[in-house]
Amino acid sequence: MKEKIIAPSLLAADFANLQRDIETVNKSQAQWFHVDIMDGVFVPNISFGMPVLQAINKHAKKPLDVHLMIVDPDRYIKEFADLGANHLTVHYEACPHLHRTLQAIKAEGMKAGVAINPHTNVDLLKDVIKDIDIVLVMSVNPGFGGQSFIEHTYHKVQRLKEMILNQNAETLIEIDGGVTNKNALELINAGADILVAGSYVFKAENQLETIKELKHLANS
Ligand code: DX5
Ligand code: ZN
Repeated sequence: MKEKIIAPSLLAADFANLQRDIETVNKSQAQWFHVDIMDGVFVPNISFGMPVLQAINKHAKKPLDVHLMIVDPDRYIKEFADLGANHLTVHYEACPHLHRTLQAIKAEGMKAGVAINPHTNVDLLKDVIKDIDIVLVMSVNPGFGGQSFIEHTYHKVQRLKEMILNQNAETLIEIDGGVTNKNALELINAGADILVAGSYVFKAENQLETIKELKHLANS
């Protein structure tokens, strides 16, 4: 079985000590950095933008998994590629021409991701699933870290996994929001490949140990 991936979300890092927290992830068993960009329009919160991503890229030694919670992401695809994003995930709900957006992301050499909000039915991805490298299933409403996991997510992940297998697609399933050691194994059993964890990792006393345990659980 392919190794399951842990992607700590820097949204929960200490921004006054961002380099320190990036180095922790560099040293850890996590494979990716998850980076949340919010515009205050698509979601009711503003996180950080290009200059901060540039600073992250200077120190991060693992792939940058960039999650755009912004309207009209097409405007910035090239810029995110130039800033070092390895994966660029856009929201289904923000893209009227999703197929075109996915092609544009790939044309810039990045993996193309699509995020779906908790209310968005996975069936809506049926006609485009083979063009998607990563489906990010939001297990909280996007915009804030530290929220409680929505239990219905398990069911969505199962249905999505079935769709991927039925179509012989190679799409990976990523879960974002409220991930902890309490739901990690059940998410993996439902079909998840990547677990994003923000507060659970960065609010922990021992971050390296927390990442290690989560990775072990996901790969058990
Ligand atoms: C929420 C973001 C998440 C967030 C997860 O909109 O997309 O990546 O950082 O944070 P936790 O793990 O604390 O729910
Ligand atoms: Zn995210």
